[in-house]
Amino acid sequence: MRLAAKGKMTVREIIFEATQTLEKAGIPSARLDAEVLLAFLLRCNRLAFIKNPDEAPSKKQLADFERLIARRAKGEPVAYLTGRKAFWSFVLEVNPSVLIPRPDTEVIVEEALSVAQREAWSNPRILDIGTGSGAIALALACEIPGAAITATDISSAALKTAQKNAAALKLDQPVVFREGDLFEPVDGRFDLIVSNPPYIGAEDFESLPAGVKNFEPDEALRAGQTGLEFYQKLIYQAHGYLAENGWLLLEIGATQEQEVRAIFEAHKDFYERVDVREDYAGLPRVIKGRRR
Ligand SMILES: C[S@@+](CC[C@H](N)C(=O)[O-])C[C@H]1O[C@@H](n2cnc3c(N)ncnc32)[C@H](O)[C@@H]1O
Repeated sequence: MRLAAKGKMTVREIIFEATQTLEKAGIPSARLDAEVLLAFLLRCNRLAFIKNPDEAPSKKQLADFERLIARRAKGEPVAYLTGRKAFWSFVLEVNPSVLIPRPDTEVIVEEALSVAQREAWSNPRILDIGTGSGAIALALACEIPGAAITATDISSAALKTAQKNAAALKLDQPVVFREGDLFEPVDGRFDLIVSNPPYIGAEDFESLPAGVKNFEPDEALRAGQTGLEFYQKLIYQAHGYLAENGWLLLEIGATQEQEVRAIFEAHKDFYERVDVREDYAGLPRVIKGRRR
């Protein structure tokens, strides 16, 4: 695609050409991505293209857009190109040190809120393990006034991003961030432990879309040979950190329900009321268990 060389072009023409380039590169959401990237660059809303299809961006804007489209054509996710991703009720800064938060992960937030409401906790102690961009912890911080929330990650770069996201939200009650392996950086007991851990096994990793496999952080995705490594550790190690009647909530991959249920079952003297919640596509997405 050589837009800048063509001189003046309208947004209608630009979007048409960029869509064709992305389609040829096998990007399924070609038109949407072209519009989102152009809107990002021109600092406007996609609606502006419908209202003013004959607007002509500057030569510099065309050249910048061309570079973004070339990167998208190589599979780089739109969220890394724009540096932001909507999650829950806010927009998070994202970069290649963090997993791009998925809409499916909002289901663990919904489930955590419904557990917190049913238990009628006041000022619950909440722990989010592997917080990444801070998505789950920050959504809970926005929704549960008075919650004491700790969020951990093994990646210092991810934690820096999460801290920036927390600062941007100007929360009443600050989230505490800790760096380290699983429970290692925290003390005490929690009413609610949530985690969306890495859960991709070695074989499944190979069949991930290129945009995920080549651009999102390995340490946010890979979980040993079987994909179950983190579930085994979290379900076992949480014994030392769950308060009485405290809940452990874990996001799971769509095919992992039976295996993760079996891990809870192996700890049935510790957990009760083990249950699975589906996402909006009807796939198993969150498993939870309560400390007896
Ligand atoms: C699947 S991502 C989830 C990120 C975020 N919670 C979300 O839902 O978008 C898993 C996160 O776990 C972190 N992680 C990987 N191994 C870890 C470990 N041993 N201890 C703590 N965090 C870990 C990764 O750095 C990554 O941020």
